[in-house]
Amino acid sequence: MYIDDVSPGYGAQPARSAFTSDALTLGLNGEWRFHLSPSPVLAPDGIEQAAFDDSAWVSLPVPSNWQMHGHGKPAYTNVRYPFPVDPPHVPSDNPTGDYRLAFDLTPEWLSQPVVLRFDGVDSCGRVWLNGEELGVTRGSRLPVEFDVSGLLQEGRNVLAVRVHQWSSGSYLEDQDMWWLSGIFRDVTLLARPVGGINDYFLHADYDHLTGHGRIRVETEATAWLSVPELGILRAPADSPIDAGVVEPWTAEAPRLYEGYLASDTERVPVRIGFRTVTIEDGQLKVNGRRILLKGVNRHEHHPVHGRAVPLETARADILLMKQHNINAVRTSHYPPHPAFLDLCDEYGLWVIDECDLETHGFTEVGWNRNPSGAPEWRDAYLDRMTRMVERDKNHPSIIMWSLGNEAHTGSNLAATAAWARTRDPGRPIHYEGDAACEYVDVYSRMYASHSEVDEIGRTTEIPFILCEYAHAMGNGPGGLLEYRELFEKYPRCQGGFIWEWIDHGITQLTPDGREFFAYGGDFGEELHDGSFIVDGLVFPDRTPSPGLTELAKIFEPLRITAAPQPGPTPTASPANRPQTSPHPPGGRPWSSLSVGVAREGISAGAVDNLRVRVANLFDFAGLDLLKFEWNLEQEGVEVASGPLDVPAIEAGQEATVQLPDLPETTRESWLTVTASLAKDTSWAPAGHTVAWGQIQVQAGTNTQQQPGDLTLGEFDHEGTLRSIAGIPVQGPKLDLWRAPTENDRYSDEPRWRELGLHRLQHRIISVHNGVVHSRVAPAAQDFGMDVKYHWTGNDKTLTLTVDIEPEGDWPCPLPRLGLRMALPGTFDRVEWFGRGPGEAYADSHQAARVGRFKATVDELQTPYVVPQENGNRVDVRWATLTDGDRTLRIEGGFDFAARRWTSEDLDAAKHTTDLTPSDWIHLNLDIAQNGLGTATCGPGVLPQHQLHAQKASITLTFRAVS
Ligand code: GAL
Repeated sequence: MYIDDVSPGYGAQPARSAFTSDALTLGLNGEWRFHLSPSPVLAPDGIEQAAFDDSAWVSLPVPSNWQMHGHGKPAYTNVRYPFPVDPPHVPSDNPTGDYRLAFDLTPEWLSQPVVLRFDGVDSCGRVWLNGEELGVTRGSRLPVEFDVSGLLQEGRNVLAVRVHQWSSGSYLEDQDMWWLSGIFRDVTLLARPVGGINDYFLHADYDHLTGHGRIRVETEATAWLSVPELGILRAPADSPIDAGVVEPWTAEAPRLYEGYLASDTERVPVRIGFRTVTIEDGQLKVNGRRILLKGVNRHEHHPVHGRAVPLETARADILLMKQHNINAVRTSHYPPHPAFLDLCDEYGLWVIDECDLETHGFTEVGWNRNPSGAPEWRDAYLDRMTRMVERDKNHPSIIMWSLGNEAHTGSNLAATAAWARTRDPGRPIHYEGDAACEYVDVYSRMYASHSEVDEIGRTTEIPFILCEYAHAMGNGPGGLLEYRELFEKYPRCQGGFIWEWIDHGITQLTPDGREFFAYGGDFGEELHDGSFIVDGLVFPDRTPSPGLTELAKIFEPLRITAAPQPGPTPTASPANRPQTSPHPPGGRPWSSLSVGVAREGISAGAVDNLRVRVANLFDFAGLDLLKFEWNLEQEGVEVASGPLDVPAIEAGQEATVQLPDLPETTRESWLTVTASLAKDTSWAPAGHTVAWGQIQVQAGTNTQQQPGDLTLGEFDHEGTLRSIAGIPVQGPKLDLWRAPTENDRYSDEPRWRELGLHRLQHRIISVHNGVVHSRVAPAAQDFGMDVKYHWTGNDKTLTLTVDIEPEGDWPCPLPRLGLRMALPGTFDRVEWFGRGPGEAYADSHQAARVGRFKATVDELQTPYVVPQENGNRVDVRWATLTDGDRTLRIEGGFDFAARRWTSEDLDAAKHTTDLTPSDWIHLNLDIAQNGLGTATCGPGVLPQHQLHAQKASITLTFRAVS
């Protein structure tokens, strides 16, 4: 049976590049007739016949995945095959979708050769036109063309396609994503004029020493190349062309020269980007320079359309990437829709194009019978690689080919590498599974810890990339800064690709009509991997998560810092890169946990002689696109601002820039220098912030409090605060618990629960003279916290100092260390002076600047697809909560979160719609929280970001403001 035959299929035309031309084309996308059968044997006979009656069928859009339209259901597994590992056989219960389309043709189609192209059919399709079988295709995310010359008819034609959910190809397509089926990419009829350009391979090299571009076109056609802008007019395509001095293509300045390749009968528009990729001195270089890959892994996913991603969504992805300083994409784990690559050429992204190949599920059976080493699968491997390389070879954005993902190793992979290297010597080969680097050109790893990368940096002799790192699942990733430091320290550590770009949640409705994003298990799958499918930097609807905001800061192409010493006028000097950057302002040493407010930032000393250092970390670009501005804020309120003249700084260089004299301030003040786009670009409007840096120019002062009677607060006989200035409150009391993040689930959470940190008991030891002494500990354990709440105040203020001392042996990091309290639900508008505007954690707070921010309590929440700890604001000097009439101000130095539910509610919820607002605003006022890490895949919280039980104290002052 063709379904479980290991061959790539039959009937297909040789693979060739995807291009448009002036030859006749007809898009066949649209509403097709559709019928789903539970298995091939139950599928109707004769669907290929023109006379077949499909009137009882339904209508289904092409392209689409049928499960996204109510036929069958999506199913998610990460590694495991959802069927027995019995290659190449697949279940008899193999959902089979029959498609039919009737379309009309004019006579001109009949006078020339024509191919029928499918850009993606998942997983196996058998195709007929006007009753004649064209062939069978496998390789879901790869194109296939069938020759239909001579089969077309004037007037009505009938195309029939039988698509099987499972096929032998499914063994090669075990990517970590939803199993979704159908004709999910475009279907097109393409005339192939006799004497036309059937295929071409345009090589456009850049010689960085001379600045010259060189073009070489491989084509079997007799053709000419014209690039009027370069003065190239009808140059014979079969001999190399010196294009003279050109502007090279880079991801930073994606210069494309438009031209066309023409034969007597066909004209093909081409976009030429001159660039040369090499490996020299053990480094991956483009145009002679080391590049640093600031990348993401991108799957094709849409919360409503599945893998049939609309073009505008693909463009939105690219715009968001560019706006967040991302410069590279790995097309995990299959070639994307071809239009995506056009956009990468146009907007500028380095691309690793990855073959549609993964056999990860064989790991469950010890890689027994893994296709990568089995000769019978060789054709299928070569076929897949060929179809990718041939389709995509003309994209300047693609700088490496990847053989696939997680298919272990074997001779078939080596064979595909050898083929690709011969076919395209201009692009290095990537594959993470070749750990010994026998047939790849770069050493690639996933989720290596920081210390391992450091070790690799010291020893590797070839370029090293992390094809996946910093698993962006739920709240996180933490530890990005420390990875960047390694990429800047070791020239051969050339960055990598965050896992991953998008949460693959699927939009669903609760019975009462509220929207939420579904993940594995939500469709009743017997076997599934739960929320591992939602691990992206953007939510399923492309809303950036805090992780993306943090990443944008980490990836900034400029570094703006305080220049330590005044000196002579601005001069350019080499940016200290590669370098070990010092811990930036904001590195939070938890060693001292006395929160009287240890302010972060660099104290710049004299306000009238301030200098900043601007380092250009682009690989190629200067600062021409940017403008610089400064502003001075006192307690978050702007005092002065102005433009900043920054000299031209070449890539890799830095300069020190003098600021104008600043007005004097009396309270805590920060200078912010911002680099933004000077004019509109294709990917963001003028004014878009690209990079910023902050310098503290005036320290804060602590307000002195007059002692008096504790009349602002009302306490009960146990010393528990009941109200402040008449506003009912609950707490404050010691809190150590947070709703575990998904990274916690893979690291500390099991231990936390086992020890009972989610169910602490509070025993009051004494209440005396404004001091409540208690012991806080989990049941069944002998360790605990000795806690003393000291209350002082008068009729205007109420001050609480909490002294905490661990007792016994605390065996693991704490989730958090702080206080929880609650206010009436009407106090739902917050303003604070501290870091913001977004959430931040010990190992993920570079993007949070010091300022004054406002938000409603609802806006403070981050709606992670799986509810978990979120919304923490750090280094807060004061915060106010108001109900519109009354305002409670809290001063001190603390991190805070405010939400309408408790940590326990967050912990219990499985989807955002499980969270029900209570009548209270629950506040956490913390000394610190444990970091985030990326333990879902990769290292947990680094030691310097772990929160351990230790002596600590916090002082908070409450006052009612009218
Ligand atoms: C990697 C894999 C990815 C994804 C990730 C975990 O092993 O290559 O596809 O599964 O782990 O989210």
